[in-house]
Amino acid sequence: MKIAVAGTGYVGLITGVCLAEMGHRVICTDIKEEKIQLLKTGRSPIFEPGLEPMLKNNLLSGRLEFTSNPKMAYKDAEIIFIAVGTPENHDGTANLDYVHAAAYSIGMCIENDVIVCTKSTVPVGTNDKIKEIIQSVKPPPHQAEVVSNPEFLREGSAIIDFFNGDRIILGTESKSAAAKLEQLYLPLKIPIIKTDTKSAEMIKYASNAFLAAKISFINEIAAICEKTGANIEEVAYGIGKDKRIGPYFLQAGIGYGGSCFPKDTKALVQLAGNVQHKFDLLESVIKVNNRQQTLPVSLAKNVLGSLEGKRVALLGLAFKPDTDDVREAASLKIAKRLLENDASVIAYDPAAVTNARQVLGDEIEYTLDLQIALDNADLAIIATEWDQIKHLPLELYIERMKSPVIIDGRNCYSLRDIRRHSISYISIGRPSII
Ligand code: UGA
Repeated sequence: MKIAVAGTGYVGLITGVCLAEMGHRVICTDIKEEKIQLLKTGRSPIFEPGLEPMLKNNLLSGRLEFTSNPKMAYKDAEIIFIAVGTPENHDGTANLDYVHAAAYSIGMCIENDVIVCTKSTVPVGTNDKIKEIIQSVKPPPHQAEVVSNPEFLREGSAIIDFFNGDRIILGTESKSAAAKLEQLYLPLKIPIIKTDTKSAEMIKYASNAFLAAKISFINEIAAICEKTGANIEEVAYGIGKDKRIGPYFLQAGIGYGGSCFPKDTKALVQLAGNVQHKFDLLESVIKVNNRQQTLPVSLAKNVLGSLEGKRVALLGLAFKPDTDDVREAASLKIAKRLLENDASVIAYDPAAVTNARQVLGDEIEYTLDLQIALDNADLAIIATEWDQIKHLPLELYIERMKSPVIIDGRNCYSLRDIRRHSISYISIGRPSII
C-alpha cells in the first residue's frame, strides 16, 4: 500500500519505519526541514534501540522516503497517518493545533480518496473535527474517511511493541476504512478490536490513566510499607499473582515520567471536566505522582539533616532506562530541589546528558562515568534503573564516596546484598538499612 505519515516524532517515525519494514511504500513528512535532511541520510533524531539500522535498510530499499513537502507525501497516498504532537496547554488540555494543521494540509493536498488514520493521542471527538476540516478544504469529488488508531508503543521497546502489540484498535464509522486498515495490519497477527471512533479515542486515554493509577497505587502502598516494616516487593509479587490484578506496573519507585503519562492523565482530567465530571481518582493519581517524584530529597533531609554544601551524585537522568528522554523525568525535579537546598549536584546518565543539560543548564555537573559521579559524594540518589547502575559493584560506593549513603528511587539493589556492605541505604517501600 502507499502510505504517508504526517510527523516524524517518536510515534510517526516508528510507524513509518515499521510499515516500510512490512513491505509498504511509505513517505514521511514533517514541517522541520532539518529533521527531514537528517532522516534522509539514514540517521535517527531519537534514541531508540533497533531503529537506525531498520531506517537505513528501508531507505536503501527505496520503500521509505522523507520529504518536507506535504503535497509529495499526500497526493497519491491510500492511507495517511497523523502522528503529530499534542503537547500540553497551560491548563492541562491537549493542544490540537498541529493535528488541525495536518488535517488542513491533507485536505489541501489529496488527489485521491484517502483514509486518514490518527495515531496522535487526541481527546474524544477530535477525529470528527479532523474529518470536518478535511471535508471543508478538499477538492471534490474525493472522499476522506477517518480512523482513530491509537498507539501503545513504549519508548525503548517501540519496535518490539509495534510488531508484538497486545491489540490494535481501529475506531471508525466507515466499514471500508476499517477493512482496509485490518488488511494493512493482518500480517502482524495482533488481535484487532474495531470500535466506534470516540471509543477508540477514549481507549488510549483510559489505558494510560489506568497504568498511571497502578503506579500511584503501588507507591501509596509502598509508603505504608515503609512505615509498618512490610516490604513492597513481597507485597507487589503477592498481589500481582492474582490474574485480575496482574504482575505488571507494580514497580514502586519515584513515580512515572515521560512524554505520555503525565500529559495524558492531565488531559483526561480536563476532558472529564469539560463534560462536568470531576475525575477524583485520577486527580489523586497525579497528586501522588508529584509527591513521589521529589521523595528522595525529603528522604535525604531526614538522613543528612541540612543538604547545604553536600555533594550529591544523581544517578540517572532519563525518565526510564534505554532512552535519552528526560521529559517530565523525576531526576529534573530532584536536581532543582537539591539546588534549592544549596547542595551541589553531579549527574550521571549514559544517554540523557545532552537533553538534561538543555533543561538544567550548567548549574549541575554532568558525567558519563558512573564512578566519577561517586567521587567524594556525600549522597547518591538513584533516579533511573539503568543496567549500568544496577550492575555496579557495591564496593565502588564504599571506595569512592565519603561515607556511602544511597537513596535508591528505583529499588535497584537487593537488601541482602546491601546488608553485606557497610552502606546506609534507603529505598522505596522497603526497610531502611542505616
Ligand atoms: C507509555 C505506555 O506504556 C505506552 O503503552 C504508551 O503507548 C505510551 O506511554 C504513550 O502513550 O505513548 P512510555 O511512556 O514509553 O509508554 O513508558 P513506560 O514504560 O510505560 O513507563 C512510564 C513511566 O512509568 C516511567 O517513568 C517508568 O519508570 C514508570 N513506571 C513504570 C513505574 O514507576 N513503575 C512501573 O511499574 C512501571
